[in-house]
Amino acid sequence: DALGGKMALVGRRWFGQATESYTLDGDAAYAAIAGAASVEFNRVTPENSMKWETIEPQPGVFDFTLGDKLVAWAQANDQAVRGHTLVWHSQLPSWMNNPAVPWTAATLKPVLENHIRTVVRHYKGKIDQWDVVNEMFNEDGTYRDTIFYRTFGTDFVKWALTWAHEEDPDALLFINDYNFEYRGPKVDTAAAFFQSLVNEGYPLGAVGCQAHLIVGQVSQAGITAGLQKFADTGLLLYLTEVDIRYEIGRGNDIANYTTSQVAQQAKDYYELTNACLAIDNCLGMTLWEYTDKYSWIPGVWDGTGAALPWDVRLDKKPAYTAIMEAILGQ
Ligand code: G3I
Repeated sequence: DALGGKMALVGRRWFGQATESYTLDGDAAYAAIAGAASVEFNRVTPENSMKWETIEPQPGVFDFTLGDKLVAWAQANDQAVRGHTLVWHSQLPSWMNNPAVPWTAATLKPVLENHIRTVVRHYKGKIDQWDVVNEMFNEDGTYRDTIFYRTFGTDFVKWALTWAHEEDPDALLFINDYNFEYRGPKVDTAAAFFQSLVNEGYPLGAVGCQAHLIVGQVSQAGITAGLQKFADTGLLLYLTEVDIRYEIGRGNDIANYTTSQVAQQAKDYYELTNACLAIDNCLGMTLWEYTDKYSWIPGVWDGTGAALPWDVRLDKKPAYTAIMEAILGQ
């Protein structure tokens, strides 16, 4: 294959994948494409194994088993690691969600601090990008009503960035969210908040735009405008969880991959990739699993899927070629 994803990007941008060690261990054909030999990817994100419920299942008791396995795999396969995610209202352990005694600012703050410091310290020097805060905004630009916001207002963001930076000053710290690709209340309010953090000297380094998108609704000009809004703050950018889904009917039916949507999807991937490439601050993109075989989409958005550049048979789709054409044409 003349178009190697990683080689086209080395030294310039990142092209990553989300995966897990147990998926790699259980599927040799999948692991062969994910790994160094395929020369496709130069960065990896753990899809679930560094989330709070997994990494601190009991108060103060940390389990790095799965995270460590993926980091070891990344090192063996010459891939950098995005840490995902330190502070998120979802996938919290039950002791966080249902405490015996309701949390107060005084009881929750040391828990948050210990979590962030312990995890970042454990991976210091091994994880160079951290999603410090995930999904803190609503679509209308207001702050999401979570255990953290209810208890601390936006102070938790400032503390989280500060603690993470103190533990690993070399890590690039992100605030990550979905629907962060197009201008609108969410992007505009978030950009203003990020600007205030930067102005006040907090160690925010980058914005993560998840980019869970829909075929036929991707516009390069629209995404460029959204990304530029963040770039104008001086922050770096990354497309952190890319997939572009479409209606395939119930289930994840291989037959549907040959519909006309595949051509539109390729165009959409081309435009998304170009939107990143057109902005110097955009560091690259990561596919949220590289193949439909392990995509989260059909399980959550029933009747939709086929969102990745590799199909369930692990064959490349036109979307793959489109991404590479964008990269090589830059
Ligand atoms: O661990 C349990 C396992 O014990 C159980 O047998 C199994 C049965 O369903 O479920 C397992 O937990 C699942 C978990 O993934 C680990 O595989 C959950 O049900 C499932 O809901 C969970 O989904 C993850 C989702 O985040 C949770 O919110 C997806 O894999 C993951 O792709 C998705 O990723 C998020 C990003 O972190 C943030 N941005 C949005 C993105 C998509 O939702």
